[in-house]
Amino acid sequence: MTPKTGATTARPADPCCLVIFGASGDLTHRLLVPALYNLAAAGLLPQAFGLVGVARSPSSSEAFRADLAKSLPQFAGRPIDQNVLKRVLGCVAYVQGDPDDDSTYTKIGQELARIERERSTRGNRLFYLATPPAGFAPIGRHLGESGLARENGADRAADRGPWRRVIIEKPFGTDLASAHALNEKLLGILKEDQIFRIDHYLGKETVQNIMVLRFANGLFEPIWNRNHIDHVQITVAESLTVGRRGNYYDTTGALRDMVPNHLFQLLSLIAMEPPSRFAADAVRAEKAQVLEAVQIPTTAEALHNSVRAQYDNGFVENQPIEPYRKTKDVDPRSTTETYVALKLMIDNWRWADVPFYLRTGKALRGKQTEVAIKFKQAPIAMFRDTPVDRLAENFLVIGIQPNDCIGLEFNAKVPGPSIALGGVSMTFRYDDYFEAAPSTGYETLIYDCMTGDAILYPRADGIEAGWRVVQPFIDAFRDARDRQLAKYRAGSEGPKEADELLARDGRRWRPIG
Ligand code: BG6
Repeated sequence: MTPKTGATTARPADPCCLVIFGASGDLTHRLLVPALYNLAAAGLLPQAFGLVGVARSPSSSEAFRADLAKSLPQFAGRPIDQNVLKRVLGCVAYVQGDPDDDSTYTKIGQELARIERERSTRGNRLFYLATPPAGFAPIGRHLGESGLARENGADRAADRGPWRRVIIEKPFGTDLASAHALNEKLLGILKEDQIFRIDHYLGKETVQNIMVLRFANGLFEPIWNRNHIDHVQITVAESLTVGRRGNYYDTTGALRDMVPNHLFQLLSLIAMEPPSRFAADAVRAEKAQVLEAVQIPTTAEALHNSVRAQYDNGFVENQPIEPYRKTKDVDPRSTTETYVALKLMIDNWRWADVPFYLRTGKALRGKQTEVAIKFKQAPIAMFRDTPVDRLAENFLVIGIQPNDCIGLEFNAKVPGPSIALGGVSMTFRYDDYFEAAPSTGYETLIYDCMTGDAILYPRADGIEAGWRVVQPFIDAFRDARDRQLAKYRAGSEGPKEADELLARDGRRWRPIG
């Protein structure tokens, strides 16, 4: 076994000032600032760094700094080193203001000018839109009109002069039309290479490793196609309920919340063609292209190839769970799905006739995110007492969370005088080999943006290709309403209709939990 290593050869990111819109929110406290701390602890945050928080709530720079310092120990996942803390919060400003008001941008500009003078951040600015989605387009417009995000195109083309970048949180649109409109608005103000649309799934080491598994090993690619693969299952199961997010969730549902973003990131990494280079445009073009090859179903096909369901009462990890409809801020007659399963087909030479089954849901038996690739069975029953249909199935399982591992399941001979076969597995676990540094999952994404590497950020075409696939399901679900809504018990593995979706093809889901 190779020695454990957490060593990094990366350089600190470019000097810059980070402006967070939505600074008083959960995301800032729980994930973003702890990620900055973790970057600083790893020596990856630039020495010259400043942080400007923008939010509506009344506060001051001192109070904002104190607030962040107070919440940090809880979320950084490690003891706080005061020197590192000083590096992150040594230069903090708070701007109270309405993000739709010109004067807010004047104040931000003043703070930026001050910090840029004091800290020599070279004019590099990163704007992080951690607000509710209604804020994205107006903030983008104000950043454009105020000139705060303006770059000198000629300088940037020559890789000189200050950069100005904008990270946009999810959800990026609520359907194809709104995602397209948002892209258009932003691209009217900023260049594509200034826009970083974040999907936190791409910050997960195990998700990033899918490309390494496929393209750094000669072993898998030759069998990564319809000749050898029977089908693919992508599961993002959560034991969490909707909890306090009723307001957002009831108008969103499992399909919009998870599929065009997180599940499609997984799907495109699994199904994409090898890029010509490991560079942002090459990778993003292949990811978008495979999504463009997903068959767009008719309404009838969408209904036939999907299951939507809502959780009823039950028990998750021994805790009683109320039905979704009793959740705070949820319509008691809501028909919003908390579970969705889809069967998708990809029309290209690699994947024709190989179904991709996707499922995601809340209040399920356990948290389990995995991609399972089922290889075709051995063609004949060579071993007398074990017919082909009783052989263990050959699965390559990429466990993303909570078990980050890669396992290969195959048949072996059970020791003894007769030939009996049993299913076994070979498993690589990340923590057997590598020491993982504490992480909120945002470190790599923020660092990449600060260094201008957009490989992990979907481009406009990738985002719209995802919505284009999901749109027929959105339309079909809207029109079908109650008729199409199944129920499942909280704490179960999902509705029986989802089992039937696979059973009808002679297949079955892998167990959850
Ligand atoms: C978010 C969704 O984007 O992802 C949540 O809005 C979901 O509903 C979460 O719970 C899942 O993320 P993770 O990293 O816990 O799998």
